[in-house]
Amino acid sequence: MMAGTKGKFITFEGGEGSGKSTQLRLLSDYLTKMGIGNVQTKEPGGTDVGLELRRVLVTGDKDKMDAVAEALLYYADRRIHLTQKIWPALARGEWVLSDRFADSTVAYQYYGYEHKIDRRLLDDLYAVAVGDFKPDLTILLDLPPEIGLKRSLKKASGMSVKELRHESRGLVFHDNLRKGYLKMAKAEPERFVVLNADKNMAELNEEIIKVVTERFGL
Ligand code: TMP
Repeated sequence: MMAGTKGKFITFEGGEGSGKSTQLRLLSDYLTKMGIGNVQTKEPGGTDVGLELRRVLVTGDKDKMDAVAEALLYYADRRIHLTQKIWPALARGEWVLSDRFADSTVAYQYYGYEHKIDRRLLDDLYAVAVGDFKPDLTILLDLPPEIGLKRSLKKASGMSVKELRHESRGLVFHDNLRKGYLKMAKAEPERFVVLNADKNMAELNEEIIKVVTERFGL
């Protein structure tokens, strides 16, 4: 139906354990069924170099670097992701579904840290690395951090390399970043859709499909 029309860039955002990756996969399956070519990707780690950066960013001691260093590395990952994967896919007319994008840096490195970083630095990095480009739609999966962190720790128990650097920051950090996300969504209601993620997978998937079909007239 929509195959061949201009690709859309949809991002999934939320705290730990909000179900973004599962919901992204389910939306991708739906789009594929509709004949819409799409790419599933994530930040950090959507490219080969990005995977190396991911290891540095999400494993190890939480205090091994500060929020400014983190922001620079997340933006390096983002720039590579855009130039090697996101922009080429959109240019081919495919849709791109990304598990996290620039809103994550504002939520984690700015709001999470109780504003210990200058917000202008993030705006400047955005301008340099991303320019005027932005997501066509951002789906924020909102969940109390107590629930999300529990899910996330359970998932990590089966991993050989534990990606728990940010999980280990404690509830205040995660509560701050949740509130930050909600503020960002309020400031840009035309781009964000906020969904309560404290429900079962199939129900949430139906809500997301409804949002996407209505938004893009599928
Ligand atoms: P994930 O667990 O959703 O794959 O994300 C990896 C971790 O990186 C997660 O704890 C959130 C964090 N993160 C940031 O702190 N800033 C960012 O800009 C991005 C993209 C992720």
